[in-house]
Amino acid sequence: MSKLPTTLRLDRLLANLGYGSRREVQGLVKAGRVTLDGTALSDPDQRLSLAPDLADRMRVAGKPLDPPPGVALMLHKPLGVTCSHKETGPLVYDLLPERWRRRDPALSTVGRLDKETSGLLLMTDDGGLLHRIISPRSHVSKRYHVTLDRPLKGDEATIFASGALMLDGEEKPLLPVAMETVSETSAAVTLMEGRYHQVRRMFAAVGNHVLLLHRDRVGDLDLPVDLAPGQYRILSEADLALVLPPAKPVGAA
Ligand code: URA
Repeated sequence: MSKLPTTLRLDRLLANLGYGSRREVQGLVKAGRVTLDGTALSDPDQRLSLAPDLADRMRVAGKPLDPPPGVALMLHKPLGVTCSHKETGPLVYDLLPERWRRRDPALSTVGRLDKETSGLLLMTDDGGLLHRIISPRSHVSKRYHVTLDRPLKGDEATIFASGALMLDGEEKPLLPVAMETVSETSAAVTLMEGRYHQVRRMFAAVGNHVLLLHRDRVGDLDLPVDLAPGQYRILSEADLALVLPPAKPVGAA
């Protein structure tokens, strides 16, 4: 897994953020269109430290610099878009600024939501962060709100919490899942795993059918109520700490 650099040459930074080829961004710099703290930069070879405040301090053609490498964001994924770089039809990446598709390292989704699932989707270009969030060792929970076709029977929470539910075609039972009943035909489930179509298959295993599926929480990070479907927001350090609490020092209780 490649580690993100802490410093980068100006032309490499701009090219990696998708502003153009090395030659094109060198032209932008020479034309005085790249500024730092209001002063035009003239040397495309200048090394810059990739501090989080760089995006506030640097402007390209008068506009704030795109988030430097090491970005993480949350997207309110709408129904009908796919978490993939290459499938046909609307993709989650189409909801981000067009230039971001040319970023290197590229942004990827942290796990996936089905095309017909809405809600909180994390994305990052930091492979280390992505793997820490999806690693089963990190125990990052995911909460889904489920609308069902048929009324709950009453034994679902016990079955899901048992740690013994076996999904069709699988050899290992699911880890315990917590379920709270919301109404006769809706519930919230919190899971630690992310098996293929897990929530839909869990309800199929107890004789029901999921009509609507929406993820509203990852770890302790909630999908903000003011983030409309299709909108995204850059995650702060504080947001990330809600997803993945900082590791305790060795020997700490
Ligand atoms: N479980 C599902 O069935 N689908 C999702 O998108 C996420 C969890």
